[in-house]
Amino acid sequence: MDRTAPGQGAGTRSLPELIASMTLEEKVAQLIQLAVPFYEGAAEAGQITGPMESLGISQETVHHSGSVLGMAGAQEVINVQTAHLQANRHGIPLLMMADIVHGFKTIFPVPLAIGCSWDMELAERSAQIAAKEAAVSGVHVTYAPMVDLVRDPRWGRVVESTGEDPYLNALYARAFVRGFQGDDLASDMDRVAACVKHFAAYGAAEAGRDYNTVDLSERQLREFYLPAYKAALDEGCEMVMTAFNTVDGIPATGNVALMRKLLREEWGFDGILISDWGAVKELINHGIAEDESEAALKALKAGVDIEMMTACYVKHLAELVERGEVEEELIDEAVLRILTLKQKLGLFENPFRAADPIKEQEVVFCEEHRAASRELAMRSCVLLKNEGILPLPRESKTALIGPFAQSGDVLGPWSWTGSRDDAVTLAEGMQRLAGDPALLLVAEGCGIESGTAEQLQAAYEAAQAADVIVLALGEHSDMNGEAASRADIRLPQVQLELVRKLKELNKPIVAVLFNGRPLDLHGLFDEADAILEAWYPGSEAGHAVASLLYGEANPSGRLTMSFPYHVGQVPVYYNAFNTGRPQGAPDAQVRYVSQYLDIPNEPLLPFGYGLSYTTFAYGEPVLSAEVLTVEKPILLKVAITNSGAYAGEETVQLYVRDHAGEVVRPVKELKDFRKVWLAPGESAELEFTISEEQLRYYHSDLSYSSDAGAFTVFVGCNSRDHAALSFRLVK
Ligand code: BGC
Repeated sequence: MDRTAPGQGAGTRSLPELIASMTLEEKVAQLIQLAVPFYEGAAEAGQITGPMESLGISQETVHHSGSVLGMAGAQEVINVQTAHLQANRHGIPLLMMADIVHGFKTIFPVPLAIGCSWDMELAERSAQIAAKEAAVSGVHVTYAPMVDLVRDPRWGRVVESTGEDPYLNALYARAFVRGFQGDDLASDMDRVAACVKHFAAYGAAEAGRDYNTVDLSERQLREFYLPAYKAALDEGCEMVMTAFNTVDGIPATGNVALMRKLLREEWGFDGILISDWGAVKELINHGIAEDESEAALKALKAGVDIEMMTACYVKHLAELVERGEVEEELIDEAVLRILTLKQKLGLFENPFRAADPIKEQEVVFCEEHRAASRELAMRSCVLLKNEGILPLPRESKTALIGPFAQSGDVLGPWSWTGSRDDAVTLAEGMQRLAGDPALLLVAEGCGIESGTAEQLQAAYEAAQAADVIVLALGEHSDMNGEAASRADIRLPQVQLELVRKLKELNKPIVAVLFNGRPLDLHGLFDEADAILEAWYPGSEAGHAVASLLYGEANPSGRLTMSFPYHVGQVPVYYNAFNTGRPQGAPDAQVRYVSQYLDIPNEPLLPFGYGLSYTTFAYGEPVLSAEVLTVEKPILLKVAITNSGAYAGEETVQLYVRDHAGEVVRPVKELKDFRKVWLAPGESAELEFTISEEQLRYYHSDLSYSSDAGAFTVFVGCNSRDHAALSFRLVK
């Protein structure tokens, strides 16, 4: 057997030459992905975790497999790669892929929280740090960013997205890809390849139930759901992951129109397409394949290169080729894409890439990275309500109560590489800043979903002894993420009872929320005097939140997903279409208008919303002209003044409405925003350009263009509160 020395696989041969020297079985093996449990000797029926014999997978195939899921740790990766290369006759290294979503050991806020920062630089930096820590620990590819547009907070995975707006999501998609990949993966060892997911429209799962059907018009898909994936690819994202759901009746993983036609042919994507976990075999359950062989056939034909976690490819592709049902060229193409990424990452020359057990100790969770996480956490929190109670004076006697007072469950889903023990709790953060640690009384009050009379009593006593009550409430992180849909999106009952009980004391209540979705805030919103939405802030949670509570920093986050008034409204989002009937009426009993009999139409808190410790006064906005042409954009100028007592940052938002499109248009669409930091009394004059290009959209024939006619531009502090001006587009 011609065993090439480790790491010298491609040698002077071109990749096509290398592929030509491989047997069909060896090529198919590149398309399989082994998972960490396989190396640990675990067995799970039907999945690629081993033992391989039960799946009919030979040792030879294992030796030529292409990639590994979920391995991180420099020494482990070096050991596995070394053993692999000794056994692989072509010297083709493994690609190490893992979910490094919002940090590696230094955990950043969850993506929905990062979304609320409206800060692309910090978002990029978070991905860059995640990449650096992951790379030194042996990871080559991260399954991120997740850019699914989300409108339904019942779906647990909204926590992984940056929100409900296609424009903002696209900016974040680019920022994350830049951060993970940098400019040149071949020379920059501190970066990892990114894999944008889940293609496509996973966020539109019916009724917010995970894995559920998605059925959208192609126009909806293109206008709202696709822009962020496209933006990631325009930024050079190396990989794409399929979604679990159907798209127009066909599961994404076997969808030729979506994958071959749109992704590969129309968008020209030539990187690796990987299935989501088990999604190839799921084509059988979905009902478009009779058996594993047909599932393999459909996924490969749709363009899926790597099958994650199931064994349809490895068991059936070779026989499908031999039977003439699959052209071997399709397999060669998939192998070429996989080998191309290995080559781009320099793995043939250096199969360990940045993996370095010594450097790993210095790099991961270093102070510099934690400071960046702290900064982003402070900018991700959103002040939802404040009746003059925040910031807290440091000398106030405070009872910190609730299941999140001393909890390390502040990292959120996808933090498997981080450690809750390393996370700063809110109690620790507040103790650092309180004028005297004795001024801070801490009690649990209840657990997240259950409690005892003793816990409640101890909390009541602590609250009685204090001037102000800070309640740390929320959802445990397993109530968010994959397979964590909730139909009732209020806080768990036991926490609402805690609020009710403490309310009896008539003392000011500040609530800090640790959760991963917009909640229905009944039982808390009216009862609390102030609410700070902290999301899952990450490793530095306690320090970041305490800085905001005590006014060392000023909250500046703005919601990127609407908070419903009631779960019965969802999906409720700002960029919806109008109806032919009025939206709501002064009297709920007025009939034949588009409203509920029992709740308002509007969400409790709209997209773009967030308070500050200061106030911002907007001047009258002015347009440079009332007519816009293709050649000549117009300018909108608006002055903004910090009219309060604290220095702070405002996010000035610009929305547009097209009044008479060829198809109906959203009542508002975010087109631009500006963040501006102002000292008390300071003013700034902001200028926005409005151009014809920003007014384009997908028409009924899917052409992308603008319509002449009447528009409104809105400028203000969120999607609800703003000034409005009219202009016309003349063509
Ligand atoms: C998730 C993906 C993830 C993959 C690998 C799947 O269950 O849907 O987002 O990347 O697992 O861990």
